[in-house]
Amino acid sequence: MKKTVATFQEAKDRGEKLTMLTAYDYSTAKLVDEAGVDSILVGDSLGNVILGYEDTISVTMEDMIHHGAAVARGAKNALVVIDMPFLSYQASVYDAVVNAGRLMKEGRAGAVKLEGGERILPQIKAVTAAGIPVVSHLGLTPQSINAFGGYKVQGKSEKAAKQLLQDALAVQEAGAFAVVLECVPAKLAAVITDRLDIPTIGIGAGNQCDGQVLVYQDMLGMFTDYVPRFVKQFARTGDMMKQAFMDYVKEVKAGTFPAEEHTYQIEDEVIEKLY
Ligand code: KIV
Repeated sequence: MKKTVATFQEAKDRGEKLTMLTAYDYSTAKLVDEAGVDSILVGDSLGNVILGYEDTISVTMEDMIHHGAAVARGAKNALVVIDMPFLSYQASVYDAVVNAGRLMKEGRAGAVKLEGGERILPQIKAVTAAGIPVVSHLGLTPQSINAFGGYKVQGKSEKAAKQLLQDALAVQEAGAFAVVLECVPAKLAAVITDRLDIPTIGIGAGNQCDGQVLVYQDMLGMFTDYVPRFVKQFARTGDMMKQAFMDYVKEVKAGTFPAEEHTYQIEDEVIEKLY
C-alpha cells in the first residue's frame, strides 16, 4: 500500500515505529521498497556516498532531481522524500517554493526535507502552503557543517537543548509533518518526541524516536571513509562486493569467464561461410 504523510501520523498515533532508508538510484530504491521500508530519503548525503565530496555543500538541485526521479521510479509503496540542497531554500521564501516545486514536479518527490528550525519557518510555511509536505531536519544539520565547526552531537547544553525543543515545536507549528533528529542525545530526543504531535525520525538520536533513518551504504557496510558511532552495519556488503570484483578480475584474466552458459551460439556453417 502506498505510504503517505497520513501513514506517518497514523504510525505515531498508534505507537508504531517508522522506517526510513536513503536511496539514490532505481535498483536500490526497488530493493528498499520491496523490503517494506516506509519511506525512502533521497538525501543530499549523495554528495558524500555517491559523488565522493567531503560534505553536502556542493550538491545541486539538478543532482537531487536526477537521483530523486530515479528513486521515485523504483519506489512503488514507500514515501519518497527528497532533500532540498544547500542554498536552494535558505536565501528566500521564493527560492524555497520554486525549488521544492521542482523536486516534486521533476523529481516526483512525495515530500521535501529542509535543514533548520526557527530561522527557516517562513520557508516551511510557504512550501507547506504550496501543497508540498515538509520534513524538518534538526540537530546536526550537515549543510551547516562550517558553522558547527565539525560533525558534533547537538543540544548538549541547557541552552542548546531548549533551543532544539523550541525549534521542533516551531517547525511543527509551521506545518512540517515529521522531524529528523540527527546526532542528538537520546534523552533529549525522547523529550522532543514526547512533546511533539508529529513523528520524529532519529539518526544518532536513540531508540525513543518514532522512527529511524540510516544511509544505506552505512548500514550495509559499503561506505567506510568514516563510520559514525550511530551506524550499525547490518551486513558487510562492501567486503562481499570487493570479493566479487576480485573474483571477476581473476576469472577474466584466467579465461574462465564467460563460460559456456554465458555464451550465445551460432551454427558452424554460418561461420564457415565467413572464410
Ligand atoms: O542526507 C541524508 O542522508 C540525511 C540523513 C542523514 C538524515 O539527511
